[in-house]
Amino acid sequence: MKIGNIQFHNNLILAPMAGVTDIGFRSVCIDEGADCAVTEMVSAKALIYHNPKTFELLETADNEKIKILQLFGFEPNVFAEAVRLPEVQKFDIIDINMGCPMPKIVNNFSGAALMKNLPLARDIIRACVSATTKPITVKFRAGWDENSINAVEFAKMCEEAGAAAITIHARTREQFYSGQSDWELIRRVKSSVNIPVIASGDVLDKASYDKLIATTHCDAVMIGRGALGKPTIFDEVRGVDVPLNTYIKIDKQVNILRKYYSDDTIVKHMRKHFLWYLKNYRNAKAIKAEIVTIPTLSESLAVMKNFLDTAARTDIVQQ
Ligand SMILES: Cc1cc2nc3c(=O)[nH]c(=O)nc-3n(C[C@H](O)[C@H](O)[C@H](O)COP(=O)(O)O)c2cc1C
Repeated sequence: MKIGNIQFHNNLILAPMAGVTDIGFRSVCIDEGADCAVTEMVSAKALIYHNPKTFELLETADNEKIKILQLFGFEPNVFAEAVRLPEVQKFDIIDINMGCPMPKIVNNFSGAALMKNLPLARDIIRACVSATTKPITVKFRAGWDENSINAVEFAKMCEEAGAAAITIHARTREQFYSGQSDWELIRRVKSSVNIPVIASGDVLDKASYDKLIATTHCDAVMIGRGALGKPTIFDEVRGVDVPLNTYIKIDKQVNILRKYYSDDTIVKHMRKHFLWYLKNYRNAKAIKAEIVTIPTLSESLAVMKNFLDTAARTDIVQQ
């Protein structure tokens, strides 16, 4: 796939996941075969107000060769101002979030709420396209609810407004993350536009990946929850043999995070990642209960290392 003049290689992308796809995890997923990763969604408004915490989200790792930033908001002029910032201009692609279902986002006219307001969504895309020569992409859902599925119309609007590619997670906003991503709808979106279409939703292994490609004929695939505790999914879907070295991935993620955050912050953030890694092991009940109570990062890492180094391949749950 090519977006603007950005050439992708294997068309596998780590999906943006707020609170999850930190700089360290993105880097690990790229090591494990993803072409690139999308940052967590970042508030366009917080960027133009120069919120220091928000700027931390713009850091990228050395192996992020294709850098994709996702912005959210609802005001075209704010988006345009954010896109022009030098810190934003270092990204190769700027993606606009038009799919987030969370109440605090949609109640503020942002995320999936934009699927109910095509004129505003169009103005936002146009404002971003006018503000930069970088490709602008849009990520959206099937529609707001089952009675208002408008992904095909929305995709055509995105293309007409100047989007260089689109990603569709084919659940409605009302579904949040329940039910299934409607791959048949993704196929219809793909056949209705000429820009690249990236498919999102429910790739958990090679079989589901192959089926998604065959069903939708999409140009690229984003993997989100399937990568949690299993960043090797990117190699797995490509048929690359994956070695058992879970601790190395945790160590790498933490070492990158340590350049930016305190150990206290990291340990709280990493607990969910620890639990996702441990989900893969049969005999992990006790350590799962223990790991969330350990107050320090160094002790948590020691406990994880001890467990993972001694776990055998036979302890791994077949996924
Ligand atoms: C914890 C979590 C956070 C997410 N945050 C974002 C986000 O910031 N921006 C976005 O476009 N999608 C977000 N998503 C949606 C994913 O990018 C993806 O489209 C969705 O999870 C379906 O793909 P999957 O089945 O591979 O997880 C999030 C999903 C999860 C589970």
